[in-house]
Amino acid sequence: MELQDLQLIARRERERRRRIRIHCCTSSGCLASQGLEIQKRIEAAVSAAGLDGEIEVVGVGCIGSCGQGPMVEVAPEGILYEYVRPEDADAIVAAVSGGECNLQRGDPQSQFFTRQFPIVRKNAGKIDPERIEEYIAAGGYRSLYRAINEMSPSEVIDEITQSGLRGRGGAGYPTGLKWSTVAKSRGDRKYVVCNGDEGDPGAFMDRSILESDPHLVLEGMCIAAYAVGADQGYIYVRGEYPFAIQRLQKAINQAKKLGLLGSQIFDSTFDFRVDIRVGAGAFVCGEETALLASIEGRRGQPRPRPPYPAESGLWGKPTLINNVETFANIASIIEHGPDWYASIGTETSKGTKVFALTGKIRHTGLIEVPMGISVREIVHQLGGGGASGSEVKAVQTGGPSGGCIPASLFDTSVDYESLAQVGSIMGSGGMVVMDDSTNMVELAKFYMEFCKDESCGKCVPCRVGTVQIHHLLAKLTSGNGSQTDLDQLRELCQLLRNTSLCGLGQSAPNPVMSTLKYFPEEYMSLIER
Ligand SMILES: Cc1cc2nc3c(=O)[nH]c(=O)nc-3n(C[C@H](O)[C@H](O)[C@H](O)COP(=O)(O)O)c2cc1C
Ligand code: SF4
Repeated sequence: MELQDLQLIARRERERRRRIRIHCCTSSGCLASQGLEIQKRIEAAVSAAGLDGEIEVVGVGCIGSCGQGPMVEVAPEGILYEYVRPEDADAIVAAVSGGECNLQRGDPQSQFFTRQFPIVRKNAGKIDPERIEEYIAAGGYRSLYRAINEMSPSEVIDEITQSGLRGRGGAGYPTGLKWSTVAKSRGDRKYVVCNGDEGDPGAFMDRSILESDPHLVLEGMCIAAYAVGADQGYIYVRGEYPFAIQRLQKAINQAKKLGLLGSQIFDSTFDFRVDIRVGAGAFVCGEETALLASIEGRRGQPRPRPPYPAESGLWGKPTLINNVETFANIASIIEHGPDWYASIGTETSKGTKVFALTGKIRHTGLIEVPMGISVREIVHQLGGGGASGSEVKAVQTGGPSGGCIPASLFDTSVDYESLAQVGSIMGSGGMVVMDDSTNMVELAKFYMEFCKDESCGKCVPCRVGTVQIHHLLAKLTSGNGSQTDLDQLRELCQLLRNTSLCGLGQSAPNPVMSTLKYFPEEYMSLIER
């Protein structure tokens, strides 16, 4: 495979394309609402109308506004149909040929779409994730070619460092620094691991990226492997994501067939193979040391660090572990340069972030926004405010490790430091909106119940503490709590935060602490009652 071969594939793909493309969303959400049947019925309607030569029907990844699915888009006009049913197929095809159509339309000019800044989601909803030719026609694998043929490994690491990219898995660790640590670590073998465990309740960013554009993640992993000197990669995906796994496997097979994975990639001396490992849905297996133990076939439990995986990871070898979204940023950084990437976002948080916007809000779905946007803009401009006009009370970011941001602090900038300052975290990108009907103590109890169930039990503070805190919250919400219980709740939260072995126990108190801070009256009213 040479650059000319990539260009040839791209040219043939463009020549093959029909003038009009009907994009049917085939991500999990829309598939669960008859997405595949809708695609088949539209294909049949196109054939019946004798329009096969003019229109092609394409199954694409997530279009974004998942709450309004199943979605169908007619390109290039950009007409969006929402809540589509299989029986709407004839009407959609008739409308493409100029007929009347009364189906509910989405507004591509609404702020939900126009305020977004797609880098990671640049191809989502536009290409067929099951055809490598479409990814190549969209410019795919050129960054890998450039990295291998025009850059040294250390130049690649320098570009990633200069871009300011930070890990999107939660902690926000500088990606370039992690890559250079792995590159410098000694080992006869090195590994690259992609963390696709995504266990936060309500989060589906990584699933959507894997389902919509699996080659983007593979290309990022491949560039990383070249930079750190690894020859084997693993993608760890939770078993609850069957479509993501299927599409990834298909993508790996296609890339292997074209010589973009395997031996002597782009006729160089660089070899890189990728295999999928399927997790069993334990939240703690997203923690990096537990994940590595799980890949090795051992029980998925965290271990103390150091040593960090960058020095001693899989089978004791230096291992680079990054999140799905982190890898999905890499090809664009190599393509457009680190200065371009660093020009997006804030001083310390560069680029964009994908959020799963859910809860009591008008427009739910996946959004990709530049860092530095305010919580208010996300809630009121992209999200359109409270569902059915209700008053938005707070936003919870960061899943069970995160905190609640009250409406009075909605001018907070969405970046790592500002979110931490108000007692929350960026996390992996869950964003749940709450209105007046949400009881904040119940919410804290919900997240604590999750942490209690997901605690691996290895260390006492988390194993016992999550049960005790959950018990106290249940006592409060049942109206049997006292001031002593509240005091004990605070004390236990501090204890858990300071003494747990891994991030699960250390951050489990966050939803309780932040609701205690911003909504004390809701706790007090339960005691007074
Ligand atoms: C309990 C727990 C669960 C985690 N789950 C995930 C996860 O699902 N996906 C992920 O990428 N990182 C998760 N992390 C963070 C990882 O340990 C690790 O920091 C991350 O994969 C590193 O990649 P990044 O630098 O690209 O963010 C979790 C951490 C903890 C403590
Ligand atoms: S903090 Fe919780 S999840 Fe983490 S090692 Fe301890 S018991 Fe396991």
